[in-house]
Amino acid sequence: MKHRILIIEDEPSMRLGMSHFLSSSGYNVSTCKDGAEGRSSIEKDRFDLIITDLKLPHFDGLTLLKHIRTVSPDSGAIIMTAYADIKTAVQAIKEGAFDYIAKPFSNEELLVAIERFFKFHSIEMELIRLKESIREKKSFESLIGLSPAMKDIFDRIASVAGTDVPVLIQGESGTGKELVANAIHKLSHRNDRPFIKINCAAIPEDLFESELFGHEKGAFTGAKETRKGKFEFADSGTIFFDEISDIPLSLQPKLLRVLEDNIITKLGGNTSIKVDVRSIFAASKNLKDCIAAGTFREELFYRINVVPVVLPSLRERKEDIPELIDHFLAHFKDKYKRPDLAVSQPAYNALLSYNYPGNVRELKHAIERAVILSKDGIIDIKHLPDEVSKSSNIATCIKDALSLEESIRCLERQSIMRALNESEGRKTDAAKSLGISRKVLWKKIKEYGIE
Ligand SMILES: Nc1ncnc2c1ncn2[C@@H]1O[C@H](COP(=O)(O)OP(=O)(O)OP(=O)(O)O)[C@@H](O)[C@H]1O
Ligand SMILES: [Mg+2]
Repeated sequence: MKHRILIIEDEPSMRLGMSHFLSSSGYNVSTCKDGAEGRSSIEKDRFDLIITDLKLPHFDGLTLLKHIRTVSPDSGAIIMTAYADIKTAVQAIKEGAFDYIAKPFSNEELLVAIERFFKFHSIEMELIRLKESIREKKSFESLIGLSPAMKDIFDRIASVAGTDVPVLIQGESGTGKELVANAIHKLSHRNDRPFIKINCAAIPEDLFESELFGHEKGAFTGAKETRKGKFEFADSGTIFFDEISDIPLSLQPKLLRVLEDNIITKLGGNTSIKVDVRSIFAASKNLKDCIAAGTFREELFYRINVVPVVLPSLRERKEDIPELIDHFLAHFKDKYKRPDLAVSQPAYNALLSYNYPGNVRELKHAIERAVILSKDGIIDIKHLPDEVSKSSNIATCIKDALSLEESIRCLERQSIMRALNESEGRKTDAAKSLGISRKVLWKKIKEYGIE
């Protein structure tokens, strides 16, 4: 599409000349002969760029510029000015003009100024687009939850983020410990500094010390180069110890010392290096149990447990499930380009009633899987993992109001429907999976009025 340019210039030959030249250079050009005309044009039409003289009948260019900023803030402006008027031109730039060109100017100079503007403009647009997509990503990474338990967590995060105290995040697997660690870092004054993660469960014991503190060349066989450790990489930022319960017992006193005085020594070296790091720890095992079992040192526990954050399991805050479903569904619909996908009522009920031993991660994976498996615009119960879909049958059939016999009939009906669903209506297969004969299946289908 052609860029739209408006020229406001009172001198006819100049106006015409510019208009011809810019049209032949591929722009869509309109012209006005004075400030009043310029003003009404700007109000009526949208222009990508407005090139205006500074000295105009009715309105001068500066007044017009102010007007452009209010009615059409997205349009760019270039001011044309006589040499004597450079001061006003500078004033115009302060008012938001992109540039000025001094009269007299050649076509070449005019074109350079215009192209410079459009280049700048496209970079600016790209930046806005990128920022937008980062913001979207960020909000996806951010924590979802309206339950009182999650509100307490948010309050806790907000109150520790600005400090440098150690934080210990505990919670079952999949409850969002890493997300919380990330959030604390992002909300802290260290957010433009490194966030370095160490998964203590993934590092072999004999490499641990070197991973944390680095090593000098020749410190051990294979140490061909001097290397920095995670603490040095994290300097001025945040260090996150995931699965801290798995840190080797032998290394725990060393870590404790570093946490106390912020001084590290490289393996095989003897110079002390001062580091400035904020530490966050996460554990899915109960650290008190680890202390009792002798695998975790009590002193270290007290050192890291200055501010505890204990994440509730998802089954303890089921009221958050609807929001999490919406959130993940929106994300995966976008990721897999399935904008029209909807969730059937039975599938939704199943997602609501399941107990999620794997917490939020399990819910997230269930939804991703369902988005991938569903073919016809609907996520149905058959697209959910077995354990989730089973939970719905049980939940809807075991209610206080139902007698034992009613509950059993309800479950029987649901099981038959599920088997028929899975066999896509083939009764022989359904009967086989239910462990009954075709004849019995027929009888039950009639009895329960199943279509
Ligand atoms: N409150 C939440 N809002 C949105 N997404 C969440 C929430 N909690 C967890 N998740 C998502 O669930 C997944 C698991 O979260 P995370 O890795 O932080 O859990 P974890 O507690 O560190 O688990 P593990 O102990 O297994 O390492 C991630 O994909 C994360 O984005
Ligand atoms: Mg984790």
